[in-house]
Amino acid sequence: MNEEYAQDGSHFSVDGIIEELSLREKAGQMVQVALNTFDLEEIGWLFEEIGPGACLFPGAEPPIFDGDRIAGHLTRIREYNIEHSPAGIPIVVGVDAVHGNATVDGATVFPHNSGVSAARDPELLYEASESTARSLLEMGVGWNFSPSADVLRDPRWGRYYEGFSEDPFLTGEMAKAKIEGYESAGVCSCLKHFAGYSVPENGRDRAMANVSMRDLRSHIFPPFECALQSEPASVMANSGSVNGLPVHASKWMLTTMLREKFGFEGLLVSDWQDIARMQELHNYVSTYRDGVEVGVNAGIDMVMNPADPERFVSLVVDLVESGRISESRIDDAVRNVLRFKSSVGVFEDPYLERPHRDVRPRPDRAIARELAEQSLTLLKNEAETLPLGRDVGEIFLTGLETSDPSFVMGGWTLGWQGIGDGREIAASPDHTELGSCLERALHSEATVTTNALTFTQDADDNYDSYAIPDPDGIDRIASETDAVIVVLGEGPHAEDVGDRESIALPATQRRLVQKLAEATADDCPLVGVLVTGRPRGTARTFDRLDALLLAYLPGTMGGEVIADALVGETNPSGRLPFTWPKNEGRLPAYYNARSDGPFELSGLPDKPGRHPLYEFGHGLSYTDFEYRDVTVTPDTVEDPSVRDMVTVTLTVENTGERYGDRVVEVYAKPAHGDVIHPRRRLLGYDRIGLEAGECEKVAVPVHLRRLEVVPGDILGTEPKVVEAGEYALEIGDQSSSLTILSSAPAGAERSEGI
Ligand code: BGC
Repeated sequence: MNEEYAQDGSHFSVDGIIEELSLREKAGQMVQVALNTFDLEEIGWLFEEIGPGACLFPGAEPPIFDGDRIAGHLTRIREYNIEHSPAGIPIVVGVDAVHGNATVDGATVFPHNSGVSAARDPELLYEASESTARSLLEMGVGWNFSPSADVLRDPRWGRYYEGFSEDPFLTGEMAKAKIEGYESAGVCSCLKHFAGYSVPENGRDRAMANVSMRDLRSHIFPPFECALQSEPASVMANSGSVNGLPVHASKWMLTTMLREKFGFEGLLVSDWQDIARMQELHNYVSTYRDGVEVGVNAGIDMVMNPADPERFVSLVVDLVESGRISESRIDDAVRNVLRFKSSVGVFEDPYLERPHRDVRPRPDRAIARELAEQSLTLLKNEAETLPLGRDVGEIFLTGLETSDPSFVMGGWTLGWQGIGDGREIAASPDHTELGSCLERALHSEATVTTNALTFTQDADDNYDSYAIPDPDGIDRIASETDAVIVVLGEGPHAEDVGDRESIALPATQRRLVQKLAEATADDCPLVGVLVTGRPRGTARTFDRLDALLLAYLPGTMGGEVIADALVGETNPSGRLPFTWPKNEGRLPAYYNARSDGPFELSGLPDKPGRHPLYEFGHGLSYTDFEYRDVTVTPDTVEDPSVRDMVTVTLTVENTGERYGDRVVEVYAKPAHGDVIHPRRRLLGYDRIGLEAGECEKVAVPVHLRRLEVVPGDILGTEPKVVEAGEYALEIGDQSSSLTILSSAPAGAERSEGI
C-alpha cells in the first residue's frame, strides 16, 4: 500500500486508505506504543502484529541520547514497520520536547514555561519553538507533546512549572506562540491537557478536580480556546477527573466542547495509559473493556501506550462487532489519525528525511539567552544591594551545586525526572555554569569561592534532600568574604514525584540561610538566587536575605544570565506570572480570583496579613520608570459585540541611571454586574527597552474578551458577556477608566452559551 502514496503524495486519499483497512488494522492505527528500546528483536512484534499508528519516547527519554543515531534507528524502525506491519502505513513518532529538544546530548534547553511567561515575549518564544522543531526534525521526529495550556493554581502540584501562568490569557498567548513556532517549522504540536488537569483538589497530581461551570468557562477553557485558534494538529486529554467524571470518558468535554464548540479538527490523543486509569485510578469502570468503550465513544482517537496493545486492538474489534462502538466512530478516529500523519508529512516522506536537507543554522544559544535573561525576576533588593558591580572583591558562592546542570534544567530533560532520571548518564545538555560565569563577569582581581550543598534523592523519591558538607567551613568563609550568593531552590522533578506538601524551602536550605545570615558581617550583602519553577520559599527565609533574584528553571543559559544580572551587566525585567502566597495554608491564592475571597484572594486593600508575599506581576528593576499621560481610546464602548478592541496609550520614562527593559501592564479592577468580578485582570502588556532618561509612547491593545464574565445564576451556563459598567484600569501607579454601555459578548461571532 505504501508504494501508492509514498511515490506520489498527490494521489493520497485518507478515505481511500480507510476503505482498504480491516477493522483490526484500523484499531492498530489507534495505538501509540512506547519505544524504550530500538532493538527490533524486542519490539519487532509490535509492528508485525499491531501495526501501530504511532510511537513515542516517553518522559523526554529516548533509548539513547545521540540525535544522529536516534535518526538512524528511527529510519530502520520505520522501514521495518512499512515492510512488516499488516497495512504498511508509515508511523509518526512523538516526544516531550517541552523546553527545547532536551532529549539529546548537547541540547540547547530553553526556560521551562513558568519562566517563559515572566518574560512576556511571545515573539521570542515563537523563535525558541521554531528552533526546537528544527532540532526535532533533524532526528526524525515530527510530533511534540507541547505546549501545556493548563492554567496555574496550586504550587504544591508537581507539574506547576510546566504551565505558563495563573492568568488564562497570558497562558493562551504563550501556548499559541509555541504552537505557531513548532508548526511553522514543520512539527505537529500537541496542546495539553484538555482540560482541568491543573486544578487537582488537593494539589496532588491526577487528584480529582472540582470546578464550577463558571470557573471552567472563565479560567480553565480560555487558554485552550485561545491556543486552538492556531489550529494545533493534536490535543491531549487530561488524565484526571473533573466534577465526577474522568475526562477521558467525557463526551461533553472531548466532543461537545473541544470539537463542536471550539472547532478542533485534529487528532485527539489520550494521555499515558489513561484508558487503564479509568479502572485503576478513577475506579470508574470495572473492566478495561468498559474503559475502551467509554474512551473511544467519548472521542479519543489514539491511545497512548495502552498497557497491553494487543488486548486494546482485540477489544476494539470485539466492541464494534458487538455494537458497543459504531464502525463510523472508528472510521472518524482513524481519519483523524491519518490526516494527522499526513500533516506530519509521512505520506510524502515516510522516513521524514526531507527536512534534514533543509536545516538552517540556528542561533539557539542567543534565543535561549534572551529568553532566560528576560525572565529573571528581581523579587527583593533592599538598599540597592544588587547589582554587586564588577569590583566586588571576594564572592562566596554556596547553596545548590551550580556545576550540576540538573537544577537549572528541571524535569523533562534527558529523562523524565531530570537529567538521567536519577541515574548517572554520559549525556548532558548544553550548560553554562554560574561559578565560572561569575568569574568571567567580574574584574580579574575578584575571586569566587564555592562550597555547595550535596543533593541526594532518597529512597522515598524525595528530591528535596540536601546536606551541608562542611558547616564550619561555611561559617568561616562567609565571615571573611565581601559578598555571599546563596543558590536556593529544588531538585529536578516531574509529575506526581514533584508534588510537595509545603512551599517552604527544604530544611537544609533554610538552615543554611540562617547560618549565613548569622556569619556574614553587616556590610556583607547576602544575595539569594532562586532556581525553581514555582513559588518555593517563605518570608522566614527571604527576610534574612538582602536581595533575591528568581531565575525559574532557566536552562542552558541560566549560569550566564544570572551572573550577568548579579554583577549588573544586565538589568532584570521579568514579572511574576503567578502569585507567591505567604504559605501553603493560604492556598488557593491566585490574583484573578473573585473579589470576595479571603486572604490573598481578597479585594480589600490594606488589611494586614491579607496580601501575598509577592503579587502576580511583581518584578523590580535596577532603574526607575515613570508612567504618565494615560488614555484609553475609545474610553466609552457602546456595544462590545461591535467594537471589541480598545487601546491604552501612555508615556513611559526611564528616570533612573541605567538602561532597563520594562514590561508595561494594564489591569482592570472589577465593575459591578450580574456576578462578582475578578479582583484584578491583566488586559494587555508590552515589553520596551529604555536608556536612562529616555521616554517612549506605548500603545497597549486590549481585547475586550478579557473583561468577559459568565453572567446568570450559579449554574454558569449562559453566554459570556462584557458587562455594562465602569471599569477602572490600572497601569502602574496611574489609572484611567473604561465605560461599557451595554452588556454583550466581545466580538460578534461568539454568542452561544453551553
Ligand atoms: C504526561 C504527558 C506526556 C506523556 C508522554 C504523561 O505522563 O502526562 O504530559 O506528554 O506522559 O511522556
